[in-house]
Amino acid sequence: GADVEVDISGIQVGQLIRVMWRSKPVWIVRRTPELLASLGALEGELSDPESDVEQQPTYAKNQYRSRKEEYLVLVGICTHLGCSPQHLVDGDFAQYAEGIPEGFFCPCHGSKFDMAGRVFSGVPAPSNMVVPPHMYLDDNTILIG
Ligand code: FES
Repeated sequence: GADVEVDISGIQVGQLIRVMWRSKPVWIVRRTPELLASLGALEGELSDPESDVEQQPTYAKNQYRSRKEEYLVLVGICTHLGCSPQHLVDGDFAQYAEGIPEGFFCPCHGSKFDMAGRVFSGVPAPSNMVVPPHMYLDDNTILIG
């Protein structure tokens, strides 16, 4: 079928895994407590803080953009022209967004997204990265689709 079941029990804190869903890359990130705590401070730097520009599930319309704060589930495609952003960690994102150590950077035209897939202001991408429809079948299993 078109839906994909993902076992998330092996994802380490801070890790990103990639799966395919309907020929699209989907990323699942287990975010650290520090990262989650930092998301609230970014609102002033975002151009789509309420995730209103594109249709998104209602559970994507909060600062974590997820059903469970710890796990981000995101279509790994830039909302500008569809390139695949890079996941930059360990301070490597700060060269593109001062003071922000981790995020997604699109090498095609420089769009920047935080670790909730929210787009920063002043870049070509018009909207946040897309949260695919998904649900938890149990604590360790996500159904995407
Ligand atoms: Fe990502 Fe243009 S495709 S910035």
